[in-house]
Amino acid sequence: MPRIDPHSYADSAQPRTKHLRWTLSVDFDTHRLDGAVAHELAAPSGGPMDLDTKGLDILGVTDAKGNHLPHRLFPEEPILGSRLRVDLLPGSTEVHIRYRTSPEAVGLQWLGPEQTEGKRHPFLFSQCQAIHARTMLPMQDTPAFRVTYEAEVTVPAALTAVMSAGPEGAGSGADTGRRSFRFRMPQPIPPYLMALAVGHLESRDLGRRSRVWAEPATVEKAAWEFAGLEEMIAKAEGLFGPYEWDRYDLLVLPPSFPYGGMENPRMTFLTPTLLAGDRSLVDVVCHELAHSWTGNLVTNATADHFWLNEGWTVWAERRILELLHGEEEAALGWAIGQKSLEESIARFGVDSPLTRLETDLAGVDPDDAFSSIPYEKGALFLALCERTAGRERWDRFVREYIAQFRFTSITTADFLGFLDKKLPGVSAAVGAEVWFHGTGMPANAPVFRSARLEELGALAGSWSSGRRPGPAEIAAWKPAEMLLWLQKLPRPLPAGDLEWLDRSLSLTGKGNYEILVEWLVIAASSDYEPVFPRIREVLLRVGRMKYLRPLYGALGSHPRTRALAREIFTAAAPTYHALSRRVVEGILSKYEA
Ligand code: BES
Ligand code: ZN
Repeated sequence: MPRIDPHSYADSAQPRTKHLRWTLSVDFDTHRLDGAVAHELAAPSGGPMDLDTKGLDILGVTDAKGNHLPHRLFPEEPILGSRLRVDLLPGSTEVHIRYRTSPEAVGLQWLGPEQTEGKRHPFLFSQCQAIHARTMLPMQDTPAFRVTYEAEVTVPAALTAVMSAGPEGAGSGADTGRRSFRFRMPQPIPPYLMALAVGHLESRDLGRRSRVWAEPATVEKAAWEFAGLEEMIAKAEGLFGPYEWDRYDLLVLPPSFPYGGMENPRMTFLTPTLLAGDRSLVDVVCHELAHSWTGNLVTNATADHFWLNEGWTVWAERRILELLHGEEEAALGWAIGQKSLEESIARFGVDSPLTRLETDLAGVDPDDAFSSIPYEKGALFLALCERTAGRERWDRFVREYIAQFRFTSITTADFLGFLDKKLPGVSAAVGAEVWFHGTGMPANAPVFRSARLEELGALAGSWSSGRRPGPAEIAAWKPAEMLLWLQKLPRPLPAGDLEWLDRSLSLTGKGNYEILVEWLVIAASSDYEPVFPRIREVLLRVGRMKYLRPLYGALGSHPRTRALAREIFTAAAPTYHALSRRVVEGILSKYEA
């Protein structure tokens, strides 16, 4: 039984799905999708076919002619879910499955009207990476197998459905009060890139191939924030080759979205916390856009090679930002990344196998292994290769790499083989083996220096000796500079220092969530009561895990902030995404009693 992915029942010796025809009806009353999916097989075949499912009710399995096919749903395993084995008649070309999702499907979050900006309509969004597509439909849920798809989604008539696919039109549904939207994704994608959102949505054009979708109340703000998108796409094309996905649209979700962004093809999903009002957080869009090459065209074959997605994308994101804003700005990005890398390594421990670039996640939930390590260690490894090969040779290699592996799913060994072929000597010179299989950080990790970084570091370092930046100095700071300086301040701080900070930098009122959360973390770890109401507000509104982790973590430092955290979580938990809930539960369980 050649299983090819520790997180999937897909078997490479069995028939394989090439295309999905998917019909679903979205039921906001029961929080279920009623689905029917037709798997078109890569070749006529027979015998057993194992699919991944989690929490699905399987209502019927037939072949293309409607003949009932024997099938068996195995008991649910903790991480993988339930194997659905279908026995195909010889020469089968299709498998048809009728099913229903569970209201607890981790891949779907159902929001009540009160969780939206407009407060009048419900909202639904999916988040399938890494292994949650199986909670939305039965399929071979491994990134090693790519599929094309078409879909018809029926929703309440007041709402709009969008997908990670090209729109093919809408019409009134079979029932009155319902509307159907059709989609087609003609390019083969890994299952984790299947995506759906339904809500009261509007859009604004940003350029000839992009628009932003959001609730009516935020769509103008979003259009302003992301106005520079087309220029970003053009810069990325200059570096990595043509944009291959036709359109690049954005969707701004309600604030419970657990990530900053998700690179669903043709329709990147974003947290509304990016709407800072000053375009200072567009690096996240740059990152998701870069995935159009690194991740969506060239995909990790399994979660063990996740750095091929994220390390490459962080590296690519910083090269695009360097073109747009210069080297100094890119160096700030590397420095901020370095901080989160160090935190992740400290969280797992320097000797943890999870600090390796190539991991062995058999028996480990990819959501539990998630950290900045594949992102930042991966990006540093590639930056080291770039320095070693020289930028010109490296950039040529990058374009060749993408052209060679586009629309395929690859392993670390595939990457290494190609590197050795195209740039012989580089992998040995950088010590690739130690980067991939050693724990912690290798001694030859590149360091990004800049005059601004040195200044900010020195300024923060002299905080305890009483040095304070002046008003003019503060006013001239870019948001990333302020963030970096805050990150380098000592903590906890005495109340007088915190008062000075808030008065001089207006931190509690900041619209830039990176700065705001960094401030609230400093204040929480210092037991500084004046910010408690703002902390409560943020934690009740925002479900982005990147912010929940440090905030709930910092609240663990003192008895009364621990009590505050527990009280806020009790109120907020029903509004959080299941993934966010799990992360916070983990943090609270580590608090001292
Ligand atoms: N693909 C990731 C998000 C993801 C990873 C979801 C693994 C589920 C499992 C996305 O591209 C990402 O990395 N988002 C970051 C943005 C950042 C690094 C600029 C985020 O959400 O913070
Ligand atoms: Zn990413």
